[in-house]
Amino acid sequence: MLIWVALAAALCVMAGRHAAEMLSTPRYRVTLPGLHGDLEGLRLAHLSDLHGRVTTRWGRDLAGAVKALEPDVVAVTGDLVSRPSQIEAVAEMLGRLHPPLGVFWVTGNHEYLLDPRARSRLVEALARQGATALDGRCEVVERGRGRLWFAGVGWAPHPRLPEIPPRPGEPLVALTHHPDLAEALVPAGAGLVLAGHTHGGQICLPGWGPVIARCRGGRRWARGCRQTGGAMMVVSAGVGTSYLPLRAFCPPEIVLLTLHSPTDMGGDRR
Ligand SMILES: [Fe+2]
Repeated sequence: MLIWVALAAALCVMAGRHAAEMLSTPRYRVTLPGLHGDLEGLRLAHLSDLHGRVTTRWGRDLAGAVKALEPDVVAVTGDLVSRPSQIEAVAEMLGRLHPPLGVFWVTGNHEYLLDPRARSRLVEALARQGATALDGRCEVVERGRGRLWFAGVGWAPHPRLPEIPPRPGEPLVALTHHPDLAEALVPAGAGLVLAGHTHGGQICLPGWGPVIARCRGGRRWARGCRQTGGAMMVVSAGVGTSYLPLRAFCPPEIVLLTLHSPTDMGGDRR
């Protein structure tokens, strides 16, 4: 009997490890009020929770998978690394993306857990590769006459919301690791909030969803795209894993968003 239990457990672990390799690329159309015509159809790749992972299925290059989506801009919502030894590989991977409008990122709880020297090393390594840290900051990107703002909140016991300058009619995309911070970012003017942290639950049950959601919104908010308070919220299931190197019914993902002005129907998955 014991041998059958051990065999079943071993098979579950093997299946979970295999599932953690199966990268998916969900795509969402997002309506962003105020989006200038010159930004219509802008492609935003959303990565989260890499946890040092720079390869996809069977060692395939993660940068190649992101580049194949031809993003105009890349946003990374925290937990880029789990340990200091992963810093250079993650920075190098992001440095190979070269999206025309830049790479933006915020810290997650795993960056907060790094010792201060390692955290500084991460920030410097990413800056050298051209990735812009948005913890408590805003940046604007431009295409033609269109301007799109990005603001970020880093992980901290008392997270600092960025000072958002007057933006007459110009849309704002907010990056946060924890989805619960959307409650503060939407009233601050964000039309689109990107988050991670939940890993989509990482271990899910068919027909039920995450066993543990790790956000106040519960299972419904652990992954995907939905409206909240007049804004669109996207929670990524992330690329890597933490604690257990397994996934069940919850593949890792790179999310691709295409932004549209309100003349199109938005928020639907395609
Ligand atoms: Fe994470």
